[in-house]
Amino acid sequence: MVFKRFLSWLRPYKSKFLLGWLLIIICQASRMILPRITGMIVDDVIPNQDMSLLLKLCAIFIGLSAGRAAIVYVRGMLFESVSQSVVFDLRTKMYSHMQELSYSFYDKNHVGEIMSRMTGDIDGVRNLVMNFSVAMFESLLMFTFAIISMALLSWQLALVMFVFCPVLAAIAWKLRSLIAPAHRVIREQNAVLNTKTQENIAGVRVVKAFAREEYEKETFSKENLKVLEDNLVVTRIWSKYYPILDMVAGMTTPVLILVGALLVSSGTLGLGSLVAAIGYVWMIVDPMRQLAQFVNMTTNGLTSCEKLIYYMDFGSEIKNPEKPVEPSVRKGAVEFRNVSFRYGRNQVLRDVSLAVKAGQSVAVMGATGTGKSTLITLLGRFYDIQGGEILVDGVDVRQQDLHNLRRSIGEVMQETFLFSDTISANIAFGRPEATMDDVIAAAKAAQADEFIREMPQGYETVVGERGLGLSGGQKQRIALARAICTNPQILVLDDSTSAIDMETEAEIQKALKSVMKDRTTFIIAHRISSVRSADLIVVLDNNTIAERGTHEELLKKNGLYAQMYRDQTSQFTETFLPDAKGGEE
Ligand SMILES: Nc1ncnc2c1ncn2[C@@H]1O[C@H](COP(=O)(O)OP(=O)(O)O)[C@@H](O)[C@H]1O
Ligand SMILES: [Mg+2]
Repeated sequence: MVFKRFLSWLRPYKSKFLLGWLLIIICQASRMILPRITGMIVDDVIPNQDMSLLLKLCAIFIGLSAGRAAIVYVRGMLFESVSQSVVFDLRTKMYSHMQELSYSFYDKNHVGEIMSRMTGDIDGVRNLVMNFSVAMFESLLMFTFAIISMALLSWQLALVMFVFCPVLAAIAWKLRSLIAPAHRVIREQNAVLNTKTQENIAGVRVVKAFAREEYEKETFSKENLKVLEDNLVVTRIWSKYYPILDMVAGMTTPVLILVGALLVSSGTLGLGSLVAAIGYVWMIVDPMRQLAQFVNMTTNGLTSCEKLIYYMDFGSEIKNPEKPVEPSVRKGAVEFRNVSFRYGRNQVLRDVSLAVKAGQSVAVMGATGTGKSTLITLLGRFYDIQGGEILVDGVDVRQQDLHNLRRSIGEVMQETFLFSDTISANIAFGRPEATMDDVIAAAKAAQADEFIREMPQGYETVVGERGLGLSGGQKQRIALARAICTNPQILVLDDSTSAIDMETEAEIQKALKSVMKDRTTFIIAHRISSVRSADLIVVLDNNTIAERGTHEELLKKNGLYAQMYRDQTSQFTETFLPDAKGGEE
């Protein structure tokens, strides 16, 4: 249950809560003395002109107020620190959980939504802590203590309050039931506005490139106006019902005085007691008025909890095996045995078998969407397959320690992502202990050293979202350096040379030759020039490996590969050598 989970987040701070609640109890109990003092002034001080008693009562009054101020201060500090700690724990837990979730989680959930969970809903939990453990508890205590105190003075007056309370609570409840949906509408509309803003800013280049600024401004204004209107709806409901609530609450005092006056004149109640009883009225009325608000805040807080719990309980489907098997030696031998894989219902690979010896280079070709990226994603067990097995160095990936397995694979992904950090930190990302020499060696191997040195701060230049812009080719080369830096046994290059011009590519090919030497390499590429020297070329088609062999063998076969080869060479000759006929064959 959601509430139970919420309590479990508070459990580590149990002793602090107990102390805080004790302080609140003392604080609220001491409040009950004040109306009694006023009563005593009426009953004892005024008739007897007893100045020394008056001074004593004043001293008690001041003493109590000062004591309460001190308690309120300590209590504030205590609960503020507890609620911040709870939020800290949650954030840590959420963050590390997010890191562990598998790819399929991120296939299903939007980044924007996850971000709002991490900020908005965690803050919602913080509010819940404060409301639930401080405000609500305080109100409840004040109400209970005040009713009891009044009943001790006169059960008849307490009875009057008992009649008013349900009426007040009912009006407050009505107000809540009207306002709660309106608030929900506002929250949803705010989310729409946020998404709109986020998309627009992220896609500002597209907006500008297509000169759609005016249109975007207009749609934004529309959504913005809706937020305004929704807020006005709440204001209208509030201004209609709040005065009624206020009026009923205001009526309690005169009615109480009336009943009290009758009691006093009939001699059943002292005047001082009546004055004291009046002092309790607001302590009873206020919590009633706030009741609806508390219910509201609690529901909102619990909704936040619920959403967080959904993410927290999103188990990582891919877990480390309990007893991982470590290959006797990690050299980078890979074998796919009758591998079948699908995303949901989309079958991508069917019965794929492929054996790669350690140190070999394999080129993977095929049209877009044939499953090239998927095939190599499976190597690091980012998804579990539905059929067959994948062995890395002779051991099924499902039996291997995930961390060790993934560290043995260096990957340059199709879409390079660089962190907002220095170039050297980006290169050393997979191996934080790397020395500057390691970083430079990796950069050199990736043909990145030269352009990095020309940057304003060299290797210390900050790149990424908030840093210096890099060209696609430069990013790719830094990503390549990052992959090489961990010194993996298996190197995977997913379309990593397509963003690089032919000339640079030729240079990288040269460099790659040395880094590929003792590694198994998978190269996904479209250009024949990138794949022709590979030990093995496989062509994916129709969910499986349609062709395999060396460049020469595949040309002889005269199938898909030969077709691609002819297309590319004729394209090349047409573009650059308009007079030449056909390709070499
Ligand atoms: N994360 C994913 N979730 C669902 N389907 C996916 C995902 N990634 C790829 N696919 C689908 O799997 C198929 C193969 O994709 P992919 O391996 O990226 O192909 P390639 O790299 O050869 O272009 C495509 O139909 C693609 O739409
Ligand atoms: Mg791909």
